[in-house]
Order: sequence, then C-alpha cells, then structure tokens
Amino acid sequence: MSLVGRKIRVELGGKTILHNIDFRANAGQLIGILGPSGCGKSTLLGALSGFRPAGAGNVSYQGQDLYANFENLKRNIGFVPQDDIVPLALRVERVLEYTAELRLFDIAPEVRRARVERVITKLGLAKSRAQRVSSLSGGQRKRVSVGVELLSEPTILFADEPTSGLDPALERSLTESFAKLTQDDASIVIVTTHIMTSLDLLDRVCVLYEGRLVYFGPVNELKAYFTVDDYVHIYARLQAKPAEQWRSEFIKSTLYATYLK
Ligand SMILES: Nc1ncnc2c1ncn2[C@@H]1O[C@H](COP(=O)(O)OP(=O)(O)OP(=O)(O)O)[C@@H](O)[C@H]1O
Ligand SMILES: [Mg+2]
Repeated sequence: MSLVGRKIRVELGGKTILHNIDFRANAGQLIGILGPSGCGKSTLLGALSGFRPAGAGNVSYQGQDLYANFENLKRNIGFVPQDDIVPLALRVERVLEYTAELRLFDIAPEVRRARVERVITKLGLAKSRAQRVSSLSGGQRKRVSVGVELLSEPTILFADEPTSGLDPALERSLTESFAKLTQDDASIVIVTTHIMTSLDLLDRVCVLYEGRLVYFGPVNELKAYFTVDDYVHIYARLQAKPAEQWRSEFIKSTLYATYLK
C-alpha cells in the first residue's frame, strides 16, 4: 500500500501556496509534516487526502489516481480535523456507537459493536468510555476524534495537528498510539505538527517552508541536513536561506533521490 504525491501545486487567491511538492508514504509508516505556521501543512494534508484536491500535480493511492477515483477510494481514508467535532454532551461509547451506526449502516450490528470495542481498546479509552466528552481532557477528547475515524478501518489516517494544545506527556502518548496503529495494522498515519518533540517516533519527516518541500526523509538525518544540534533550531536555520534555494538544494540531494524518486 502506498500514497504518492507528484508535483502537488496549490494556488489560492492568486498566490502559490504549495510549489510542486513530492511525497511518498508506504504501508506501516507514521509520517510527520512539519514547518512554521502558514507554510502550507494543512493545505498539503487536504491535497494528499483528496478532500481538498490540488489544482495541479497528482496523488496516487496504490497506483490509482486518487482524485479521479475519489468516490471509490475515500472509504480507505480517515481525516481528523484540527478542531474536534465530536458531540460534547454524549458519553464516549455513545459517540462511537452512533458514528458506527451512521457510517457503517450496511454492516451487521454485532460486527459494528466489535469495531467500537476494538477502537476503545486501541486508543486506550476503556477507562473513560462512560464519561461525557465535555468532561474529558484535551488528549482524551482527541482520542475520541481519532477513534471516530478509525471505525471505518481506514488504511490511511490523516490528522491535522492532533497534538496541539496537549502537554508533552499527552503529546507523546498520542504519537505513540499513532505509531502503534501503523505497526499493528500496516496502515499509514500522516500528521501535521509544528512541535519538534516526539520526532523520534516518526518514520518519515516532511518539512515545508513557505510552500516548498525542503526536507523529506528519515528523522535521523534531519539534524545533519540542517546542520543543527537540536531539532528546535531547524526553524531558525530555515531563515538563513531563501525558501526557493532550500527547495532546489533538496531536489539535488541524495535524500530526494533515495526517498522520493
Ligand atoms: N483560501 C485562501 N486564500 C488565500 N490564501 C490562503 C487560503 N487558505 C490558506 N491560505 C494561505 O495559505 C498558506 C498556507 O496555509 P496553511 O493553512 O496550509 O498553513 P499551515 O502550515 O497549516 O499553518 P498553521 O501551522 O498555522 O496551521 C498561508 O499563508 C495561508 O494564509
Ligand atoms: Mg494548519
């Protein structure tokens, strides 16, 4: 299973928001899209997921054109928006049951119930299953939002800043859950973040800067590529060169040849 983006270009309001971005995700990978605020992370997530298609370039899911076959392929794709949209007044298990009834109406009730139980277990929601969403911590609430998307057992899950607003411990534990999902189910999880912690849990890191792809590759080459001794210095380092220069240098790098060609 794979998701490949080629020369993804997005223009909005007469401005180029994404400049020919290449991307590749393989089964079992947890991928982080990083970069300063406004660099185009959410826009790229929309383009890769097919929910907000790019104006130019293409995305292929298992070799099939995602945009042309979106109606068929979208059931394989889960998308967790940045703002939680789960009903606050309901208890956790009711949220999952209701969503399962709505989205999986053609599946036998006992299979649906089994899916709800699996999601509760996978996301560590057993203890809070009878709690109302309104009384959950931010981290638990985010887990419910993720759980809602997992009910349909997507092969690719997208999440826009799932860990923003969480304290470092909750941030790490949610990222660990994503890593476990990719390992257990050989699925792909693609998250955006501008937080530079928990990077070690990612299989691939994609760094955007002013709408350009300036890094794509494993985490352990990130510091050397940007010649920094700590991940937190990468954003400052980016400002040392124009975005277009970072982009053209990256395209000539062995990273590009190894991980994106
Ligand atoms: N409808 C639009 N019209 C014009 N420009 C837009 C539109 N939507 C987004 N943009 C611009 O596109 C750029 C990228 O936006 P995007 O939301 O993808 O960034 P981001 O990296 O997700 O930022 P953040 O970290 O703040 O979430 C920003 O400069 C934004 O102002
Ligand atoms: Mg965003």
